[in-house]
Amino acid sequence: MRRVYLDYNASTPIDPAVAAAMRPFLEDHFGNPSSGHWAATTAKAAIETARGQVAALLGCESDEIVFTSGGSEANNFALKGVFFALRGKGDHIVTMRIEHPAIMEPCRFLERLGARVTSLQVDGAGLVDPEDLRKAITPQTILVSIMHANNEVGTIQPIEECARIAREHGVLFHTDAAQSVGKVATDVNALGVDLLSLAGHKIYAPKGVGALFIRRGVSLEPLIHGAGHEGGRRAGTESALLTVGLGKACELARDLKPMERVRELRDYFWEELQARLENRVVLNGHPVRRLPNTLNVSFLGQIGAQLLARLDGVAASTGSACHSGRVTLSPVLEAMGVAPELGIGAIRFSLGRGTAREEIDAVVEALSDQLGAKK
Ligand SMILES: Cc1ncc(COP(=O)(O)O)c(C=O)c1O
Repeated sequence: MRRVYLDYNASTPIDPAVAAAMRPFLEDHFGNPSSGHWAATTAKAAIETARGQVAALLGCESDEIVFTSGGSEANNFALKGVFFALRGKGDHIVTMRIEHPAIMEPCRFLERLGARVTSLQVDGAGLVDPEDLRKAITPQTILVSIMHANNEVGTIQPIEECARIAREHGVLFHTDAAQSVGKVATDVNALGVDLLSLAGHKIYAPKGVGALFIRRGVSLEPLIHGAGHEGGRRAGTESALLTVGLGKACELARDLKPMERVRELRDYFWEELQARLENRVVLNGHPVRRLPNTLNVSFLGQIGAQLLARLDGVAASTGSACHSGRVTLSPVLEAMGVAPELGIGAIRFSLGRGTAREEIDAVVEALSDQLGAKK
């Protein structure tokens, strides 16, 4: 079978318009943006334009954006930055069982430094209950971090409600929006968040660049100390090349219309699978509150990774892992309470701007052949 890419939640190709915006900074404008001479001017201005483009996507001010190396750094900055800035006030962080490792692992690290972390349970669709958050907050709570949309199943959390609860208690609220930016609306004021992480390579920008929104008035301890780059919040000579790429990608991501076509294709994919494979497929994640591009399906009686390997040429993901001959369930599906025999048959297909209907048809055909489905 020819190659089909259905792993846009893992990474996206660089949009041609993004590559075109970056090219002059690869070839010509090499100056250090902090220098005081002519060679710095273009790079410095371009970084500030990019900051404005990111801010416009999130509905915030330019000075509320700090560039990072990606989603992981933005998450680490939010969690560690708040902990180190506010540890005199409290030591408690509330998060959720189905966060990305880029939230879970900084939490584990902070626990070693004395933080207390509560991880909220989710229901079978992957949704957190805001009332559980309300109950978890204590006078010692300094931060709540709940991801906007899950990378494996696409479930979208009730961020507005959760952020409101945190605010009522005077607690900062962070959301990891690496998967939601560019797929659904992510206006920081509509969401009511104080901190938001995004990752360039999920929105058709290059890898190695991302951003953290930090609401005015919120002060974080930097992760990287040095000279006063990024308003003293992240030291290191800025990359105009990468930030220009992120800025252009954010400008393009403001238009959510292409996502309507992606949603239609995703729904078509699921309808076709159900028609061909009937009761041998089960949808993982929330049926409605879900990213428009994500389709996580359990194939009954199958091992997801093995089925995917048999499809040969289809790039998609499985959350399950094979360690020394034993298949283990993805921690996300496990936390959702998905039965192991179902969970090990899960494959995550994630569509994007470049996905064509013929590609979906080809994958449905290949799956039907593999599973002996009706034509
Ligand atoms: C939800 C979520 N958060 C964070 C990250 C990490 O982002 P990056 O790869 O840019 O560090 C990812 C990427 O897989 C993600 O899906």
